Amino acid sequence: MEPEEQRRIVRETNYVTWRRQGGWNPLLVTRAAGSRFWDVDGKEYLDFSSQLVATNLGHANPRVSEAIAEQARTLPYLAPGMTSPARAELSRRLREIVPSGLDHFFFSTSGTEANEAALKIARAVTGRSKIVSRFRSYHGATAASISVTGEFRRRVIERHQKVPGTVFAPDCYCYRCPFDLTYPSCGVRCATAVDEQIAREGDVAAMIVEPVVGTNGVLVPVPEYLPMIREITRRHEVLLIADEVMSAWGRIGEWFAVQRWGVTPDILTTAKGITGAAVPLGLTATSAPIHDAFRERYFPHGHTYEAHPITLAPAVAAIDEYRRLDLIERSRREGEYLLGQLRALSERHASIGEVRGIGLFAAIELVRDRTTKEPFNTEDDKIAGRPLVVDAVVQEMMRQGVYCIGWVSHLVIAPPLIVTREEIDRGVAALDTALRVADAQVRGEPTP
Ligand SMILES: Cc1ncc(COP(=O)(O)O)c(C=O)c1O
Repeated sequence: MEPEEQRRIVRETNYVTWRRQGGWNPLLVTRAAGSRFWDVDGKEYLDFSSQLVATNLGHANPRVSEAIAEQARTLPYLAPGMTSPARAELSRRLREIVPSGLDHFFFSTSGTEANEAALKIARAVTGRSKIVSRFRSYHGATAASISVTGEFRRRVIERHQKVPGTVFAPDCYCYRCPFDLTYPSCGVRCATAVDEQIAREGDVAAMIVEPVVGTNGVLVPVPEYLPMIREITRRHEVLLIADEVMSAWGRIGEWFAVQRWGVTPDILTTAKGITGAAVPLGLTATSAPIHDAFRERYFPHGHTYEAHPITLAPAVAAIDEYRRLDLIERSRREGEYLLGQLRALSERHASIGEVRGIGLFAAIELVRDRTTKEPFNTEDDKIAGRPLVVDAVVQEMMRQGVYCIGWVSHLVIAPPLIVTREEIDRGVAALDTALRVADAQVRGEPTP
């Protein structure tokens, strides 16, 4: 098929996610390797966001690809009631790296499913129904996971697809503190508020948190926040679910983000980087007491593709690659360099409100006015399909051959953990040029 025909047939027959269907003109990508990918015309792009913050190992890692091929040749599928060598190998490796105590595993095929399982397990085990979540969060697309999602993707669908029982707690977001306080004199009010909320709500089964909020702004909590949330949830005998779909696998310079703050949740969910996104795999890891509760009780969950061998074998190879390439440490080191370079940009660009991040996980929040912190666009603009300034910045980056996620009014910068200094410099240089588009809006000038 000619390239234009390929684009046309996909446009005309496929849904594109989380947007209006009209006006979609997808880039036709034919190849990817390392931190780069190429379109059908041979144009090279630096992947400055690891697609959807997922290809942590870079694209087409040969050892992961070989593990997929080998598994496909020997045992492509098995019913989940049986087991395979890949399942045993992965379970053993996970026991070595997940926070200690979280050593009972349920394998699915996405972050959404990992959270759906976590929420079902939490409710079944506690016999309670409510879940505390936070407004700036995304936990998945299906009924239970979208119902605990705080951001606008819940609002657009909840009238039709809602699991009741979510209550939202304030965000730990110092740049726009929900209490208008300043750290540290605030006493971490966003955490102490949860104490009263759980007590007064009653019937709370669990609190779900992204330890570092991903899509909704790369919000890094203050050091006390997660330990305080752990103490509060434990005191109320409420389970703590850490949604590490995005924040794990070296992204923040730790295997799992909770390790940075010495916190062990009762349930941890992850996906994406577990295979470097080479195949779809989700993981729900629980504590022993949770698993024990189902020893003599019916476990009410499962999928045909649960513990699918082709999803598990590449995860074994991926973990070995994270270790061989020392990517956890690398993320910490190169992340410091990246953040330094991004912070330097804020001196040159009036449209930058805040640069924040941890490891190779960063955001640039754009504002129309640094003093008032007025954003260029809101979630309502995104729902309505109005043109977003951040999308114009992303478009200019793409013109320069650098792919990067733009979301409402911020950019998410999260390159593969194998990214080189030269590639970081190339990405930052593209940002430097592209941010002029937003700067012009600050000055009320037409887009350059
Ligand atoms: C924190 C978080 N949780 C859950 C999900 C849902 O994962 P998936 O898209 O694999 O279903 C995502 C996806 O980006 C995420 O970032």
